[in-house]
Amino acid sequence: MTRGLNVAVLGATGAVGQQIMRILEERAFPVAELRPLASARSAGQVVSFRGKGLAVQPVSDEALARVDLAFFAASGEASARYAPVVAKAGGVVIDKSSHYRMNPAVPLVVPEVNGYDLNFHKGIVASPNCSTIQMVMALKPLSQLAPLKRVVVSTYQAVSGTGRDAMTELENQTAQVLEEEKPTISVYPYQIAFNALPHIDSFDVSGYTGEELKMIHETRKILGQPGLAITATTVRIPVFIGHSESVNVEFGAPVTPEQARAALAAFPGVEVRDDPSHLEYPLAAGPGGAAGRDEVLVGRIRRDQSVPYGLDMWIVADNLRKGAATNAVQIAETLLALGQWSEWSLGRAEAAAAAAADDLGGAANAGSGLTGDER
Ligand SMILES: NC(=O)c1ccc[n+]([C@@H]2O[C@H](COP(=O)([O-])OP(=O)(O)OC[C@H]3O[C@@H](n4cnc5c(N)ncnc54)[C@H](OP(=O)(O)O)[C@@H]3O)[C@@H](O)[C@H]2O)c1
Repeated sequence: MTRGLNVAVLGATGAVGQQIMRILEERAFPVAELRPLASARSAGQVVSFRGKGLAVQPVSDEALARVDLAFFAASGEASARYAPVVAKAGGVVIDKSSHYRMNPAVPLVVPEVNGYDLNFHKGIVASPNCSTIQMVMALKPLSQLAPLKRVVVSTYQAVSGTGRDAMTELENQTAQVLEEEKPTISVYPYQIAFNALPHIDSFDVSGYTGEELKMIHETRKILGQPGLAITATTVRIPVFIGHSESVNVEFGAPVTPEQARAALAAFPGVEVRDDPSHLEYPLAAGPGGAAGRDEVLVGRIRRDQSVPYGLDMWIVADNLRKGAATNAVQIAETLLALGQWSEWSLGRAEAAAAAAADDLGGAANAGSGLTGDER
């Protein structure tokens, strides 16, 4: 491939779409033309890429014509409608919505963990839920020490995980509460400022939320362990950027904290921050915090004294970067390295496109019970 790629970003005015464009710049991804797309609401708005202002276009079949690579960071409905358009024309979609994640024909990829799954894509690749990505980044190296028997996770998630409107809501409510005014509630069902909401996404009949079920199902798919015992409680807290997680792992054989630290430190994209005697542990914000970084930070690693072979740990990452945009761009970089856009591969993509789109159409979310525009 000598030229750069024609790249579309659907959701270019949103929290993740903006970050994708920044990361394409930072990592010098070979972009020939960038097409920022969103809904008709923001058509004509100007976004910046490589120092230039680009007008946002409303998404349509025509706006996606001749696109080699499209990042989708809009809604599940938009992905369902437009991803097959790109795949049918021989392009590749990297989808941040939950729409295709549990589709058996769609690889769900964190490149460091299961990049090999990109070998069987059919024009659509899904990027996992932000909370799932940071957890599997730690579980993968640990699973190479001893079999994972059970995982129990509780999350403390930033409002940027809900998008730009939620960040504005936290900012406004914080000011209102400090001024002793009644907070304006619109994005979340309750005040998020100075609060903790044990509710992310909608409730299922089982009592779990959609976010909890996503963590459970996606982790099993990415690790290739459909029978993994795993449970989750997901909580929204008044932090702008950076999800934190308390993760308890039970193993089938002994694993010491020292072995875990060494395996995690050796894994690409993970950084161990674990020296309680010097008050060193992972944080979301502040100097050295996860916000603004691509590494997944792991610390507070200790033996769980309630079971024979268990560890507790604290995992923190920037949900907009590794939890969303960085992971998506890394998927694109891996595809590039696999020869996705070489001339031979482009020819193959065109030949395979019609069949692929047919396969994908009927099976969206098969087996997941998940729908819509969830994180
Ligand atoms: N935030 C995270 O940490 C995170 C992590 C993982 C995955 N995700 C997923 O990434 C996607 C975007 O999330 P976000 O946090 O960036 O949300 P956001 O800040 O609310 O931005 C949403 C973007 O999508 C566009 N959009 C919405 N509906 C559309 C439609 N029907 N057609 C075309 N464009 C549409 C919006 O355009 P307008 O400006 O025109 O409204 C906006 O650009 C979602 O699917 C979300 O589940 C987010």
